[in-house]
Amino acid sequence: MRLRKASPPAGLRGLGFKVITGSKVRLREKKLSDVRNDYAWQSDPELARLDAAPLLTASFPFYLLDFTDQLRHPVPHRYPLAVETLDGRFIGNCTCYDIDEKKGEAQLGIMIGDRTYWDRGYGADTVTTIVNHVFMNTELRRIYLKTLDWNLRAQRCFAKCGFTACGQLRRNGDDFVLMELTREEWARQPGGV
Ligand SMILES: CC(C)(COP(=O)(O)OP(=O)(O)OC[C@H]1O[C@@H](n2cnc3c(N)ncnc32)[C@H](O)[C@@H]1OP(=O)(O)O)[C@@H](O)C(=O)NCCC(=O)NCCS
Repeated sequence: MRLRKASPPAGLRGLGFKVITGSKVRLREKKLSDVRNDYAWQSDPELARLDAAPLLTASFPFYLLDFTDQLRHPVPHRYPLAVETLDGRFIGNCTCYDIDEKKGEAQLGIMIGDRTYWDRGYGADTVTTIVNHVFMNTELRRIYLKTLDWNLRAQRCFAKCGFTACGQLRRNGDDFVLMELTREEWARQPGGV
């Protein structure tokens, strides 16, 4: 299947659509065969709760239609990537979104849907890999994210990658912690430039 791809704005061209390899994971563009796992993960009440996302209740055929449409018509300023182990097992997703070139920032989202890979460093390697890619290939100056204030695993994962708390947010009855990593802080890290 040939997919029409949105062309990224000038400052983001480096985000590209290619495979990015970390030390434990490979990040690649989404493909149709991801649909079964994505449907299962989005229909999983525990995962939806941890992600503060609405539980998916649509039927699989309906979801498939929507999924196919999103592959054909990518949303501008949003880069969804699949997370694979180095031996090619699809274990989750990570997305760079709300990319604002004027403010020089973007938001990051991650979900390791396959629980057997939790607490084994795959989340941290995913975050580090996408952060390095963004700071090395774009002019963005800040990456931020939000996570539920009781999601300590996620906060620990992000802290390991250099993110620090920068605020709080209350939305739809949930309390979130905002965390950020600036280009300057990233460059000061041992692996930074
Ligand atoms: C959050 C998530 C991305 C983290 O990925 P991961 O691969 O499990 O994370 P890592 O192994 O890199 O790091 C997790 C850290 O949290 C620690 N941890 C686990 N449970 C914890 C808890 N209850 N309290 C504090 N720390 C905890 C782990 O020990 C590990 O730290 P360590 O390496 O110092 O031992 C992944 O677990 C996930 O997607 N979970 C489901 C959805 C979700 O929570 N999404 C986040 C939305 S913002």
